[in-house]
Amino acid sequence: MQSFSDYLEIVNKAIAAVEYPAQPAHLYEPIAYTMSLGGKRLRPVLTLMACEAFGTPCEAAINQAVGLEFYHNFTLLHDDVMDKADVRRGKPTVHCRWDENTAILSGDAMLTTATIIMSKAPADKLPAVMDIFNRTAMEIYEGQQWDMDFESRNDVTVDEYIEMIRLKTSVLFGAACRLGSVIAGADEASQEALYGFAMELGLAFQLQDDYLDTYGDPATFGKEIGGDILNAKKTFMLISAYRNADKETTERLDALFAINDKSRNAEKIAGVKAIYDKLEIPRLCTEQIDSHLAKSLEWLDKVAFKGDGRKAFEAYVNMLVNRDK
Ligand code: IPE
Ligand code: IPE
Ligand code: MG
Ligand code: MG
Ligand code: MG
Repeated sequence: MQSFSDYLEIVNKAIAAVEYPAQPAHLYEPIAYTMSLGGKRLRPVLTLMACEAFGTPCEAAINQAVGLEFYHNFTLLHDDVMDKADVRRGKPTVHCRWDENTAILSGDAMLTTATIIMSKAPADKLPAVMDIFNRTAMEIYEGQQWDMDFESRNDVTVDEYIEMIRLKTSVLFGAACRLGSVIAGADEASQEALYGFAMELGLAFQLQDDYLDTYGDPATFGKEIGGDILNAKKTFMLISAYRNADKETTERLDALFAINDKSRNAEKIAGVKAIYDKLEIPRLCTEQIDSHLAKSLEWLDKVAFKGDGRKAFEAYVNMLVNRDK
């Protein structure tokens, strides 16, 4: 197995080699812009790792890795419209730099680009590859719809939240693993176990993303801090805050979320954060993250790795644990 940075280099080279037509510039420039801003490339690296972990050189899965990264970036273009997010990877989002229609249509073109690249698979693997890809995509839309539905609901449970983030986030990590292991021809039990690993890893990852949305350092996180609070996203933190709040704190939370005046955004974010701190929500959130990470590692026991695959997956998890962006 190679290191994360080796896989990253392979992924970035392949992404840089993708060519776009020159015209219409307003369709393709935002795609090139988005793909050139980096991002952590967590999913394509996982695909390459999952391929190599079963003894097949990772290059065999490069199209599925790159296709999935295009797909991920497509979801971000639309997600930033839905979440009214102005900054990503430290740069203006596409709908801010251009406009919403551009984000919609360039997003559509990225989705099709993803499909074209994804479908470059050996004929005997193509049906499985497209089945994984399409099923995953549909689940992500379901997750994104729950995410938005929850904005206007106040009775969302932790279980509902977990199912929502499994759909919007975990399944893409799951697909990343499954695609690599399918290309490598891994045994069914190992594929399932690696998928189980990715489900738990994805939950930890999204819990961490939600945590960083409130507690991250704006300089490194690359996204605006407090966006989830402004959108009334039903994160584990907010659900837990309501669950643990006394009457007075509940009223204070209600009053903060009733603020509907942009000039008071900073006050709203600071107010909610102060309540999270008082209720020790960061500790609860960290415990949740650690529990899902521990479960993700348990799944690795059931994977029939060839060679030092397990160590590489453990290193990947360790890297995620320590992320600040
Ligand atoms: C952002 O994913 C979307 C979430 C599921 C939270 P990443 O944090 O992996 O985004 P990039 O690609 O590294 O920018
Ligand atoms: C996004 O979740 C998940 C998908 C894009 C499918 P978030 O809305 O939390 O992602 P960020 O924080 O904008 O990256
Ligand atoms: Mg979102
Ligand atoms: Mg978002
Ligand atoms: Mg987020």
